[in-house]
Amino acid sequence: MAPAVPPAVLALLALLAPALGCDRPAHRWCSSRDVAAACQVESRCPSLPHPAAAPVELSLYYESLCPACREFLVLKLFPTWLLLPEEMLNITLVPYGNAQERNVSGKLDFQCQHGPEECLGNMMEACLMHEAKNFSTYFPVIFCLEAGSSVTKNLEACLQIYAPEVDSGRISACVQGDTGVALMHHNAQVTEALHPPHQYVPWITVNGKHTDELQAQAEASLLGLVCQLYQGEKPEVCGSRGREVNKKDIFMEKHQDPEWCGRGAGRG
Ligand SMILES: *[C@@H]1O[C@H](CO)[C@@H](O)[C@H](O)[C@H]1NC(C)=O
Ligand SMILES: *[C@@H]1O[C@H](CO)[C@@H](O)[C@H](O)[C@H]1NC(C)=O
Ligand SMILES: *[C@@H]1O[C@H](CO)[C@@H](O)[C@H](O)[C@H]1NC(C)=O
Repeated sequence: MAPAVPPAVLALLALLAPALGCDRPAHRWCSSRDVAAACQVESRCPSLPHPAAAPVELSLYYESLCPACREFLVLKLFPTWLLLPEEMLNITLVPYGNAQERNVSGKLDFQCQHGPEECLGNMMEACLMHEAKNFSTYFPVIFCLEAGSSVTKNLEACLQIYAPEVDSGRISACVQGDTGVALMHHNAQVTEALHPPHQYVPWITVNGKHTDELQAQAEASLLGLVCQLYQGEKPEVCGSRGREVNKKDIFMEKHQDPEWCGRGAGRG
């Protein structure tokens, strides 16, 4: 694209430029941010690539079988991640939630809100993340597990569809061995260190913070929230002004959501 700099300005700047460390011909001044800066024409170059902005950091503290967690992950987080460019949103998944950890004479033991199957689901997902490493490899598999009829029985099938390169044997070994326990212990510590402490799951932090408002916005319009917070150049999917989160939508969503899994509820 040709720089939209008036010829008279270019002519004037061409006289000054050599003194400013600008060693490019005028038609190249808008070719990169560094050249534009050296030639002092940054504000006049409309098509310069924007400097990279930090991604919006979202952490999801959840339980593998909690209905509201599954709904948020499957219907909100996953589609938002699919829609946005990778550099815009950095997601951290922490399966643990309202579980409890006990140290029985040196051996760690976990109790989960929705029973032993939930502990297994949490650990399978933690081990999958550990083995697959790459978020774009494991997130579709976790989506597949959480979206299906059984979180714990579909690992082979979900891997086959979304990440055939990941070895299910390694995940089983992790789940049955010390690595799985260590990963769960880590998730327990990260969850217990939350400020403010989580009161229910799904519990969302955005750029390291949790407030009622951020939580409500994330649930009502996650795409809108990320678009609004991202400081870099916004993609088309954000809309020309960025989508505003509508208070009425938040109200509607609250009443349609399945129950949150409150801390202290459902434990024996
Ligand atoms: C995403 O967040 C994690 C945890 O804060 C960090 O280690 C990682 O470097 C971040 N990735 C990017 C691309 O910013
Ligand atoms: C569990 O308790 C034992 C003592 O019984 C202690 O040595 C060990 O460090 C504890 N483990 C963890 C992970 O807290
Ligand atoms: C993660 O996977 C994506 C998609 O397959 C790939 O583009 C990306 O380079 C991978 N990243 C790493 C760090 O392996």
